Amino acid sequence: ITGSGASSKVTATLPSGESVEILLYGATVISWKSNGGKTENLWLSEKAALDGSKAVRGGIPVVFPVFGPPPKSGHATSSLPQHGFARTSRWEFLGKATSEDALDSSSVKLDFGLYSSNVSPEARKAWPLDFGLVYSVTLAKDSLQTVVNVRNEGESSFEFQMLLHTYLKVKDISKVSINGLLGVEYVDKVLDASTHKQSDPSVTITGEVDRIYASIPQTTTTVLEDGTPRFDVVRDNLQDTVVWNPWKEKAASMADFSPDGAFTEMVCVEVGAVKGWQKLEKGEVFEGGQTIKSLL
Ligand code: BG6
Repeated sequence: ITGSGASSKVTATLPSGESVEILLYGATVISWKSNGGKTENLWLSEKAALDGSKAVRGGIPVVFPVFGPPPKSGHATSSLPQHGFARTSRWEFLGKATSEDALDSSSVKLDFGLYSSNVSPEARKAWPLDFGLVYSVTLAKDSLQTVVNVRNEGESSFEFQMLLHTYLKVKDISKVSINGLLGVEYVDKVLDASTHKQSDPSVTITGEVDRIYASIPQTTTTVLEDGTPRFDVVRDNLQDTVVWNPWKEKAASMADFSPDGAFTEMVCVEVGAVKGWQKLEKGEVFEGGQTIKSLL
């Protein structure tokens, strides 16, 4: 752990040079370098707040227990802020496990915890349910795995949504295509939340895109640049994926989105369980996550 207070972070580096950096604030992964440490895979805004004053604009914020704006009323999450409180809570570092079999197969796993007993009083008041979250981040030579484990530690059942809001770094959005969503139904948040079916094998981005692809049968979504696979995003026990790029105007309206043209250098591919609700009875556990492979 380095830094202090809200800026504390955990870093890990493999003998072959790959590295990962995670803020305790939000357990937000803010950097993941592969290719011997030479290639940054995650986009992070130059104006991202890294001091705990607001959710990080970039990296991998953890969304829990609600995705997007909560239902207006009548749901246990209704008084929470957009995307819940996990991304703005300070997590505990639970420890590190390394395996160093061979230079090429070594990995490091970092665990973080967030419990109802250590969220802010406001979050506790808005969602007064007893839960435990363990977030495991595993760095390997060409991949990063991030898995959320949710446990109901209370006496009654609760419902939640979760999502890993990954900002992938790309060179030029005009050359990006996203495969692995063919035939999947999505809600288009830009077009009045209407439902559509993905009929083109590739999703390309030429304007603001904010789509929730749900109940995806394929486990892998591939991000290509110039026709060459750049990332594989493999879902584990998660059926939904949000594809988001704010484009010019929306990016300009976000004070922490910088520099100006940076919307051309990122795309969010966010795996999650966001269609409907996941229900956990007393003592039950849900686990879901992703493995992102850097294919350079
Ligand atoms: C995406 C949502 O997951 O997150 C978008 O689908 C939203 O609608 C985006 O704009 C960013 O949210 P925020 O709260 O980090 O600005």
